[in-house]
Amino acid sequence: MDEPCSHVPVLVEQVRELLAVRPGEVVVDATVGLGGHAAVLAEGLGERGLLIGLEVDPANLEVCRRRLADLSCRVELVQENFAELPAILASLGVEQVDVIFADLGVCSAQLEDGARGFSFLHDGALDMRMDPRLTTTAADLVNRLKERELANLLFYNAQEYSSRRIARRICEVRREGRITSTRRLGEIVASALGVDPKSRKEKIHPATKTFQALRIAVNDEIRCLERLLEFAPDLLRSGGRFGVISFHSIEDKPVKLDFRKRKGEGLYRIETKRPIVADEAERKANPRSRSAKLRVAVRLPEG
Ligand SMILES: C[S@@+](CC[C@H](N)C(=O)[O-])C[C@H]1O[C@@H](n2cnc3c(N)ncnc32)[C@H](O)[C@@H]1O
Repeated sequence: MDEPCSHVPVLVEQVRELLAVRPGEVVVDATVGLGGHAAVLAEGLGERGLLIGLEVDPANLEVCRRRLADLSCRVELVQENFAELPAILASLGVEQVDVIFADLGVCSAQLEDGARGFSFLHDGALDMRMDPRLTTTAADLVNRLKERELANLLFYNAQEYSSRRIARRICEVRREGRITSTRRLGEIVASALGVDPKSRKEKIHPATKTFQALRIAVNDEIRCLERLLEFAPDLLRSGGRFGVISFHSIEDKPVKLDFRKRKGEGLYRIETKRPIVADEAERKANPRSRSAKLRVAVRLPEG
């Protein structure tokens, strides 16, 4: 059956090789998405293996469920945030696992669906919740935060150096009425920066960082990542592999620093001295892969 949306998983061969799944192991795909990486990881599991997939977005999980229906291993798909991984494993009666993998952020299907409000390229309500159970949308933040809070959010979540100018303009415009659509926000940011997004000189849309910053805030992405990094050493068996793909420095930095710290504590061996990036062919075929960075660490035995 053709799925309504597509997503090309990045760095697939590198993930397969570095996470080296063996028959009978327990693999957690913490961001199972549409199941692209999960299907590859599951190839190595055989009938005795267990694949646990977590996903906050029920629409993606539904597509994934259909895609992984024919796997020979046991599959447990759970609509939950990976920040809750210890409790999820406990509920499945699993104490430790052999692989934890996370491919952070949103997938193409979410970006392309205007109704989800993730992108200035597709007009829609300014929502940006990956998990529909969350109660705060991007529109709530844009219309409710004080100017200084908004500027800080843009700066700290996306290194937007024009954060103050953008925040000031948002606050001016919202006095005339609530800002509710992705297109409107894109226009406001462009006007704050005095940039025409349609100009051929502009390679990157001026609102790119603003949208990234809001998405990170709405979904509390950095705190969730920090929680995953914090409890991963306790959940991984000795020899277990931990792989994370990030798409910008705000995500990559905590991973890099955590792996280094755990190495210093004698808990991890780092398998990727430098992050793995896509080769030329993949970058051409899949533009999303251009900013992807894969880091992998191996859990060392205690003591
Ligand atoms: C880049 S996509 C993953 C794509 C997947 N690797 C594939 O091959 O189809 C990231 C997915 O993770 C989900 N997600 C993001 N943060 C999450 C979190 N904290 N817990 C669970 N799922 C999350 C998003 O909804 C999205 O579907």
